[in-house]
Amino acid sequence: MPFSDPQRDDYRELAAVYDDWQYLYPQPFALSLRPRLVSVLDEFSTPRESYADLGCGTGLLAAWWKQRYPEWHVFGVDRSPAMIERALQTATRSAQKQALMQWGLTTRGLRASSFDEMMAAAEQMQAGGPAPSPPTTSLADSRGSATDITADQPQDQAPSKSGVDFRVQGLDAIDLPEPIGLATCVFDGINHILRVPDLVAAFRSIRSSLAEGGLFVFDLVHEAVFAEAFDGAVVRKGPGLVVTADSIHFTRGDHLFGKTTFAVFREENGAWRRYDAEISERCWRRKEIVEALESAGLSLLRQDDIDPAKEPEFQLPRTFWICRRPLEGSHR
Ligand SMILES: C[S@@+](CC[C@H](N)C(=O)[O-])C[C@H]1O[C@@H](n2cnc3c(N)ncnc32)[C@H](O)[C@@H]1O
Repeated sequence: MPFSDPQRDDYRELAAVYDDWQYLYPQPFALSLRPRLVSVLDEFSTPRESYADLGCGTGLLAAWWKQRYPEWHVFGVDRSPAMIERALQTATRSAQKQALMQWGLTTRGLRASSFDEMMAAAEQMQAGGPAPSPPTTSLADSRGSATDITADQPQDQAPSKSGVDFRVQGLDAIDLPEPIGLATCVFDGINHILRVPDLVAAFRSIRSSLAEGGLFVFDLVHEAVFAEAFDGAVVRKGPGLVVTADSIHFTRGDHLFGKTTFAVFREENGAWRRYDAEISERCWRRKEIVEALESAGLSLLRQDDIDPAKEPEFQLPRTFWICRRPLEGSHR
């Protein structure tokens, strides 16, 4: 099955609990990258004020971008209809969550409440009123069905709450209504690609989506720690949430792969509900990435290391890549 087949949605179940899992950390991974992305923007010029987060998941980063740079046109692209469906709801949830954090009103303080009840309380407090009584609809009720969304149509039928234009598209088939000045693909998006031809197809499609001179930024799990990262079980717990992630790594030919089996349990209306996912990734070596970028016509401007010893908001050593679509006629 080709990796961009819209029928294959590894995140179909995980989408519903993805943000809750991410907020078990001090902050979601994508939001930890904000200072780096702002620095990229300061250091390198972009030809247009249009931004696309590719493999955007639940859209936290794209929604934040739109909030920080309201004049930019902001797009979010993901092959998972379930993640895009969550992304359409994201802005208010993340804004409320941020507000909740600011007031020090952690989930611990509202242990008995469901996530949506806490969000409703935060919203009410933000508006200056007393916390409302719990909503009568359950989380499960408020969750739509992923089958509502078909490829490339949500922006017409269900506008996002953040003002971001979210679309169901594979990285190898990006089709946006305008050339992009800055594109990102963060939190292992590129590691999710499993074959060299698919990597090259993705980079080509990303190049085509960029304006001339446009930037493309992405991260990878550092190849030196990939095997270690995909080895063994981890359990993370928060109020009303238990996330188990069991990882293995294996080689096929000369290549290293990892697979994580997630089982997430969330307490909903007094009962525990289970969400499953199995996510496969590939350890991309620097040489393979450099060759694929070159073959797709993207210039590598810089590659940095992310070291959790210096930046504790990151759990794992990573590499951070900054590339550009060269101007026509230029050699770089
Ligand atoms: C680990 S999640 C990261 C989501 C988001 N960027 C974040 O930081 O939270 C990886 C995302 O990449 C998406 N993805 C993986 N392969 C993709 C592909 N070939 N095309 C489009 N999206 C893809 C998945 O559906 C998933 O939403």
